[in-house]
Amino acid sequence: MSAAAKAPSPLLFFPAIFLLALSLLASPSTSDTESFIFGGCSQLKYLPGSPYENGINSVLTSFVNNAMFAPYNNFTVPAGTTSADTIYGVFQCRGDLDQSSCSRCVARAVSQVGTLCSGACGGALQLDGCFVKYDNSTFLGVEDKTVVIKKCGPGSDSYDADALARRDAVLGYIGASNGDGAAYKFYRDGWSGGMRAVAQCVQDLSPGECQDCLGEAIGQLKSNCGAARWADMFLAKCYVRYSEGGDHSHDGHDHNDDDEIEKTLAILIGLIAGVTLVIVFLSFLGKACDSAKEGK
Ligand SMILES: *[C@@H]1O[C@H](CO)[C@@H](O)[C@H](O)[C@H]1NC(C)=O
Ligand SMILES: *[C@@H]1O[C@H](CO)[C@@H](O)[C@H](O)[C@H]1NC(C)=O
Repeated sequence: MSAAAKAPSPLLFFPAIFLLALSLLASPSTSDTESFIFGGCSQLKYLPGSPYENGINSVLTSFVNNAMFAPYNNFTVPAGTTSADTIYGVFQCRGDLDQSSCSRCVARAVSQVGTLCSGACGGALQLDGCFVKYDNSTFLGVEDKTVVIKKCGPGSDSYDADALARRDAVLGYIGASNGDGAAYKFYRDGWSGGMRAVAQCVQDLSPGECQDCLGEAIGQLKSNCGAARWADMFLAKCYVRYSEGGDHSHDGHDHNDDDEIEKTLAILIGLIAGVTLVIVFLSFLGKACDSAKEGK
């Protein structure tokens, strides 16, 4: 710090401003429903100003407009002369969201994916309460069990058979298809033994494919996360999450470690950035005074 105070270099500003920006970015999002889970873009780029760009804009606009009335929809938009220029898109809200939360969530997801994947042929983004995806490869109606993101919370105090049994019970409950003749449920949530689980498929799958996808997610959870107190398994077309006590935003009492660390880190980084800026500013003033004196 004394070195910085003696020789203020304009270069120092950049890390400080960068850190400040980082800390702003890391600040918690407006609501749990809109908290970020994952995002990804295709490697392929389209030509700026091409009809493809208009196609993407039209798909993203359709997401936002449709999400005011429906929790799910898919789109196929021709965006040029060849079949390579057809854009497919899908959005879906978590099954328990009301329409206004759904609409807000999709609007936020669209604005984030537009920034994240600017220039890319395709993009996908999952927030806590909704999912959006578009691409020029046909993914609509195609089952895809690729693991996109998995998170395992801390384990139980002891790696005990009881915790594993409760995990299995809640996963068994959430994975059971409703064979009661009612409409197949692409979204389910429920409690079992003090644990809450949520499962969701993207609705372009058939009930059979959805069931298969959820089975894979549950298997992955069991083999990857042991007796974790909470865990998330997001595959490309379905997800399963569970948690002790039922707070899936992971900011409840026993499973808030990650979020708390993130917040603390954000505050710390902000502080360091602030202090650095002040020091740099003061030392600049000092230099300016010195050279003013020397100039006389
Ligand atoms: C998607 O578009 C890109 C760029 O125009 C093209 O290279 C690629 O082949 C297209 N992909 C498909 C599956 O059509
Ligand atoms: C796409 O949406 C239409 C209604 O807009 C629906 O009839 C069709 O089944 C959907 N396709 C898929 C693959 O979900």
